[in-house]
Amino acid sequence: MTNNEIHIHPPVAVAEWIGQAADGFLRLLDQTLLPTETTYLDCRSREDVFDAIRRLVVRGAPAIGVAAGYGMVVGSQVIPNDADFPAELETLAAYLEKSRPTAVNLSWAVRRVLQRAKSTSGDAAAIRQAMLEEARAIHAEDEKMCLAIGRYAEKLITPGMGVLTHCNAGALATVGVGTATAGMYLAHAMGRAFTVYCDETRPLLQGSRLTAWELQQAGVNAVVITDNMAGWVMKEKRVQLVIVGADRIAANGDTANKIGTYSLAVLAARHGIPFYVAAPYSTFDLTLKSGEEIPIEQRGSEEITAGLGRRTAPEGIATYSPAFDVTPAELIYGIVTDRGIAQPVKEQTIRGLMA
Ligand code: MRU
Repeated sequence: MTNNEIHIHPPVAVAEWIGQAADGFLRLLDQTLLPTETTYLDCRSREDVFDAIRRLVVRGAPAIGVAAGYGMVVGSQVIPNDADFPAELETLAAYLEKSRPTAVNLSWAVRRVLQRAKSTSGDAAAIRQAMLEEARAIHAEDEKMCLAIGRYAEKLITPGMGVLTHCNAGALATVGVGTATAGMYLAHAMGRAFTVYCDETRPLLQGSRLTAWELQQAGVNAVVITDNMAGWVMKEKRVQLVIVGADRIAANGDTANKIGTYSLAVLAARHGIPFYVAAPYSTFDLTLKSGEEIPIEQRGSEEITAGLGRRTAPEGIATYSPAFDVTPAELIYGIVTDRGIAQPVKEQTIRGLMA
């Protein structure tokens, strides 16, 4: 059976629009409570959406983009009919864009919905309707892009292999079957047995709380390790492939992803293990020449000192908490996109794929 004959679907509804454009709302799976509780949060105002993105109720670059796209519709509902609609929407877009700075999918989606509003003629109701259509199109497109990534990435996974991943670039980070996980889900559906080592991913544990959870639900053989075990696990030859997601990829291929990704890339190079990134075209920011220009989000100290349900560092201690790091292109063996694999990772191949 070829991989084109296999259709796999997202295992959970990460983000969903309920109702009409005028009075509907955004329903999000609350990922802060996984893996112990499956609870949904309804966002009925721009502040609700901002807060949900900021608190990581919804997280992962593509999922943030989808949520922010719907957030534009939610936020537009309170704009009075006689207001300067385009100006109000610009303010709304700028507000939502500030919720998290690193994943470019957020501003990509917000700007796309804004552009659709600006190019729609008619009253506020007609514009809002067009905005909802655009947000839904972003949603549907993301689901398709995940599957397209999977069709390329599946070929990298061979029977008996150990695959290491970091954070969650899975179904929970998208509205499809994930980016880094897409190939895993397809290979699994094609009957291949392999093991996924899930880095726990401190400080917020997206690897153990989310990736391990969704792979386990799907029946994929998943093993959780703490972040500091990755080097030794590679040394023991348990891992033959590393595949991670991305929050923003610069024109030269430098890639921002969850803090700890850079260390993994260095370790993979040391052990001769191919290190791949998987991302849809919406994660590329070709306006940036290199990773040095990517804004890195800083998070609060509590996530480090008291993030595990109890205090794990002394009161008043200083912390430093960048949420993302940048892996230089030279350490990336290939970038699997919905349009093919960029390899070698350099500006020419990236621009060629994205053209
Ligand atoms: O802080 P998070 O949980 O939003 O970080 C998520 C990641 O770093 C993912 O790897 C990235 O967004 C890719 S998602 C397909």
